[in-house]
Amino acid sequence: MKATRNLTALAAVVAAGIAIGPAETAAQGYPNKAITIVVPAAAGGPTDTVARLIGESMGKTLGQQIVIENLGGAGGTVGMARVARAPADGYTLAVWHIGQATAPSLYDNLRYNAIDDFDSIGRITDVPMTIVGKANLEPKDIAELLIWVKQKQKDVTYAHAGIGSAAHLCGLLFMSATKVEMTAVSYRGTGPAMTDLLGGQFDMMCDQTTGTTTQINEGKIKGYAATTLKRLKVLPQLPTLDESGIKGFEVSAWHAMWAPKGIPAEASQKLVAALQTALKDPKVVERFASLGTEPVPPDLATPAALSAQLKAEVAKWSPVIKAAGVKGN
Ligand code: MLT
Repeated sequence: MKATRNLTALAAVVAAGIAIGPAETAAQGYPNKAITIVVPAAAGGPTDTVARLIGESMGKTLGQQIVIENLGGAGGTVGMARVARAPADGYTLAVWHIGQATAPSLYDNLRYNAIDDFDSIGRITDVPMTIVGKANLEPKDIAELLIWVKQKQKDVTYAHAGIGSAAHLCGLLFMSATKVEMTAVSYRGTGPAMTDLLGGQFDMMCDQTTGTTTQINEGKIKGYAATTLKRLKVLPQLPTLDESGIKGFEVSAWHAMWAPKGIPAEASQKLVAALQTALKDPKVVERFASLGTEPVPPDLATPAALSAQLKAEVAKWSPVIKAAGVKGN
């Protein structure tokens, strides 16, 4: 009797056209192999730090190994193109940041649509930024630095992680606010840039607290200012640019997780849940706090909130980038 009932039920499902296709079948028991998180910047940088912390926690929840793949270049667009083209099976993800919103205005031949080619998994954290300099840079504080850069102009070298990186965007905003034209040095991530800053290879950069807090507090680089409106708990000695006379200067690098468009519903649900668990993971919360940042609140972490945020940010940065006359190569 039971067998007949099951066959009848199966016939009803098939009749209703509720096909259980290969994608959904593959998703059953998801995840059943390691998951790759692509970081579109070199290892050792701020985005890499965020991705590894979140990935470690998600791996525990999902019961699968998380593999971080660093793929820098062209301000993160090389890495994001790789994810856009990856199989939509839930086993290739991206952790990136505000660069996902600036790329459409910076790169005319972008090989993906930043909004339509991805599924939102969720927003992670908004990382404050800091203006830092090499240890022996002449200015002793932000007041002297603002005078010094005006005098030196193009003789000042500053690093970023490619056109469209957070460091690049912050550098653009800093130069616009101070009416200074400095000389850019481009890296595949601010991880390798930090190595050269520690070696005194260039003068300064605007980088995320996840990349600068330890170096500043250990006196290995000079911390000049924070790009937040309130001083940072982990770097209270740093004045904000706002309080240093650059009124209203505020920029942070919001980070999020995406998958290629069209991953199976079960995979998406499990990834979204695992990310939201990671954002409450005490180890993640504590480590983020020690690096000057914090997980976004649950209501901002939903896929719908991220999709809305990305659309709004693309619209917000388009006129700013056009006015700056900047283009990626
Ligand atoms: C950026 O400036 O976009 C990031 O710092 C890149 C990175 O994490 O290296």
